[in-house]
Amino acid sequence: MSTITATRSQLSSQQRSNELEAAIARDPHAFRVLSGDRPTGALHVGHYFGSLANRVRLQHAGVELLVVIADYQAITDRTASADLPGIVLGLVADYLAIGIDPARGTIFAHSQVEPLNQLLLPFLSLVSVAEIGRNPTVKEEIAVAGSGAVSGLMFTYPVHQAADILFCHANLVPVGRDQLPHLELTRTIARRFNDRYCPGVPYFPAPDGMLSAAPLLLGTDGQKMSKSRNNSVPIRATPDETVRLIATAKTDGERHIAFEPERRPEVANLLLLMALCRGTTPEAVAAEIGAGGAAALKAAAADAINDRLAPVRLRRAALSAEPGYLREVLAAGNEKAAAIARTTLRRVRELMHHSY
Ligand code: TRP
Repeated sequence: MSTITATRSQLSSQQRSNELEAAIARDPHAFRVLSGDRPTGALHVGHYFGSLANRVRLQHAGVELLVVIADYQAITDRTASADLPGIVLGLVADYLAIGIDPARGTIFAHSQVEPLNQLLLPFLSLVSVAEIGRNPTVKEEIAVAGSGAVSGLMFTYPVHQAADILFCHANLVPVGRDQLPHLELTRTIARRFNDRYCPGVPYFPAPDGMLSAAPLLLGTDGQKMSKSRNNSVPIRATPDETVRLIATAKTDGERHIAFEPERRPEVANLLLLMALCRGTTPEAVAAEIGAGGAAALKAAAADAINDRLAPVRLRRAALSAEPGYLREVLAAGNEKAAAIARTTLRRVRELMHHSY
């Protein structure tokens, strides 16, 4: 995909997001939202502003919310480790701490939902190898992994992600911009399935992505913020850790702080993060720092993060003391997801002439 095409499609996604907001306000019950994360480490402020805050907001607005902990997807580029159960329960704690209500929603781990996984096979038959090879997010992940030993799962996980979304007929997926290619593939799979196996009576919806208003946040090294790149500020970090992490953030030598995202991306990123935390604009916080320089900017940004996340961190500390409760929430979510997936798989088999 060329840069120009990417920009154009991102613009229209933003427009579509705005239309969707209006439709949700009119009739929240028409929406089933699914989103999720890989259990590769602590969720960070990029997730928070990119997708997590949107999930909570949508749930409050009255839509049904499902959250997938993508534990199979986590092994695209690494081996499942003995820490995985702790990381998974940590994610459950993060979700509850930011305000997701497990009584109204469903939090599940996709490895535990067997009929969901089985959808991968028919879905794989609907896409070409070349299509997956062109996926910009997959390409970037391969470049980051920088190895000749790219696993087969690296190529098939976007199709598995389509199963995460379609098994429950989700029609809305709040994600960061990097996930838009996967959303496009999911829509392609839904459309092709419908065309081939139930023409005229679509079985799967073509789900919409929903971008948050927040632009993509960079990590402390100026690259995309990512759990696996060690450049993020985890939601669960202590205030002191947050100060230390932000202190390492890359900036530039110019004393006067101004919001110039093109020319000074690292400074702009800290301003943006601070503005998101405070619910204001990056220009306003830049004016506040003025001639204070990078040191003042970093101190103020760390304070803003700490203030914004204080209540979340308090709840999270209480939740992590209750691993039994976290396990119960997950088990109940796995059960609910499995019931939905069984129904979908049964229908898929019927439509594909695979019921004997
Ligand atoms: N690919 C997403 C990420 O890396 C995680 C994910 C898995 C997901 N399945 C999903 C996101 C379904 C949205 C919908 O963060």
